[in-house]
Amino acid sequence: MTSLTTCADAEAAAVRAASEIARRLQSALRERGVAHLALSGGTTPGRAYELLAQELEDWRGVELWFADERCVGADDEESNYRLAHETLLGSASGLEDARVHRMEGELGPELGAERYESSLRERAPLEDELAVLDVIVLGIGPDGHVASLFPGSPTLDVQAPALCIGVHDSPKPPPERITLTLPVLRAARRCVLLATGAGKADAVDAMLAEPSRHVPASLLRRGHLSVIVDDAASPEPPNPPAPAD
Ligand code: 6PG
Repeated sequence: MTSLTTCADAEAAAVRAASEIARRLQSALRERGVAHLALSGGTTPGRAYELLAQELEDWRGVELWFADERCVGADDEESNYRLAHETLLGSASGLEDARVHRMEGELGPELGAERYESSLRERAPLEDELAVLDVIVLGIGPDGHVASLFPGSPTLDVQAPALCIGVHDSPKPPPERITLTLPVLRAARRCVLLATGAGKADAVDAMLAEPSRHVPASLLRRGHLSVIVDDAASPEPPNPPAPAD
């Protein structure tokens, strides 16, 4: 079952997300000596990343990946890598540069995806041809997209052995991106999806309803998914039972 946690506000949601991500990384490090973490971009997760940097005291053994990236340079204000660099990379004690795997968005969608896929094959555990990451941190768009997988897009149909694909028509600017495929998101031991603000409430509601290509988040593997929201993004509560006559 998907776990849904509703927190009072965005700060509490960030605290909760950082705590769960750190706990899962620690567990992976204990069990396998390595922990594979992939980050998303956007405006939501930055605070959670700042808190996560401190929550996990020792980052040695963590392999840091990205769920998606815009096709911009690493220091571009649109870059997801830049977001991670500004919030987490600089303060994650013991995180080795060689274990930070940036998507090279500046190479463009195809070449960037191709090179990232090679890195994943080289450094991530593979099961049934798919990279199995321990934790993938996701946001969700108002349209229900996750990473750079958008509603109704043919990218939703890309299967193994592809791990990473180029996007040319993102409705969310910039149009050119690199993204992990849906099967890789579904293969993850856990996806932690963070959504805050009233603008995400409908998308969260739709994500928890019937799986649909119109809502990519609804296609995530429900039993491997933690959804952490603030009150404003909380899905409509079920209608309260009618008062007894
Ligand atoms: C990206 C993100 C994307 C993001 C959602 C939510 O590169 O844009 O990876 O999937 O998580 O669009 O973005 P906000 O957090 O800004 O609402």
